[in-house]
Amino acid sequence: MQKNILIVVGTRPNFIKITQFKKVARNYPNFNVKIVHTSQHYSDEMSKNFFESFDLYPDYFISIPTNLTVVAQMAEIMKGLEHLINTAFHPHLIIVVGDVNSTLAGSLVANKLNIPLAHLESGLRSFDYTMPEEYNRILTDKMAHYFFVTGSDAVNNLKYESVRKDRIFFVGNTMIDTLIAYQYQIDSSPILEELKITAKKYILLTLHRPANVDTPNGLNQIIDLIQSIHKNYSDTIKNIVFPIHPRTENNFKKYQLWDKLNAISSLVVTKPQSYFNFQKLIKHTLIVITDSGGVQEETSYLGIPCITLRSCTERPVTLWQGSNILLAFNENTICKYIHFFIHPATSQPQHPDKWDGKSTERIFEVLVKILL
Ligand code: UD1
Ligand code: UDP
Repeated sequence: MQKNILIVVGTRPNFIKITQFKKVARNYPNFNVKIVHTSQHYSDEMSKNFFESFDLYPDYFISIPTNLTVVAQMAEIMKGLEHLINTAFHPHLIIVVGDVNSTLAGSLVANKLNIPLAHLESGLRSFDYTMPEEYNRILTDKMAHYFFVTGSDAVNNLKYESVRKDRIFFVGNTMIDTLIAYQYQIDSSPILEELKITAKKYILLTLHRPANVDTPNGLNQIIDLIQSIHKNYSDTIKNIVFPIHPRTENNFKKYQLWDKLNAISSLVVTKPQSYFNFQKLIKHTLIVITDSGGVQEETSYLGIPCITLRSCTERPVTLWQGSNILLAFNENTICKYIHFFIHPATSQPQHPDKWDGKSTERIFEVLVKILL
């Protein structure tokens, strides 16, 4: 009998983590895999452009207004998912991805409708309860039946929370599956020429965590940091490239700091970049400065120095085995580390275990065991 699997995605990093599922599913005729997009991220540059790049299209969309509060947004997503499941596609398993609000909404629906739930990228813990994502992770894992994890730290976290060992599957990192699968398209991106920047002469910056971008103080710190890097390293670092997340752009505008930001001559502010462009920018940058979760992993895999402006990370393997360091938002400390990265000791990237491009395949091997 064919088994229906519904993958729930809603945000940019979710889309990037599921690019190989439909491809691998072609080898498994007993599985009918459908993707539903919750519309949490809706702007073309945060959503449609990714699906187009990956030649992947959601089978279903939950249609929700764009200006909702978080609670109303989650409620609409849950109502939409329930309707879909009751009328169009009844799954034998729901897979939710990562740690965003759509992940929790999908988990609650699975729980209330008594549908088995698998969590992709399960077990990550920052232990920072001021992050909305930490509750999304913990609550999702409380409701999940199957746990797909990216590293041994996540296995340990789940064991510590008394999750059954036979339900934890250390499959590796599907975000790295995507990075490996699209090497050719990434290398072919013309973004360096388009932005008129030179390899290893720029810093790539992305920031979108509420703790960094939701207050005028945080936004002014970002401006000060960029100016300080420019002042201290103008001979080595010609540009700072800042593909700006909509939350961050909206806040710069809301607090009337947008013009001040754009007045910095060495700064290249762009819309969020396509996946291929952004990976090319990572590959050729001197350093990444970020607060993104996924970017910590991608830079680690590629061995690109990464400064993460957060007090903690749910991805500690990027500190032990990767090229990531955590720094508080302190201009002087950050500049000191930039100096260190400009003159690095050469080292080869070490790839964390099972970050090898085959994680989605491992997930299907597990699905055969649990569903057929
Ligand atoms: C969300 C996730 C975060 C993840 C990030 C990935 C939660 C709690 N947060 O944060 O974990 O790292 O996505 O990028 O789920 N907006 C647009 N267009 C879009 C999307 C958002 O303009 O396509 C604007 C809207 O004003 C929105 C704001 O950005 O209110 C924040 O969007 P939201 O999805 O709530 O959170 P993110 O900051 O994107
Ligand atoms: N990314 C992208 N274009 C950009 C910025 C990021 O394609 O302009 C990719 C990045 O390479 C990674 C993912 O988006 O694969 C990370 O998403 P984000 O930082 O929004 O979310 P997080 O990982 O912090 O949840």
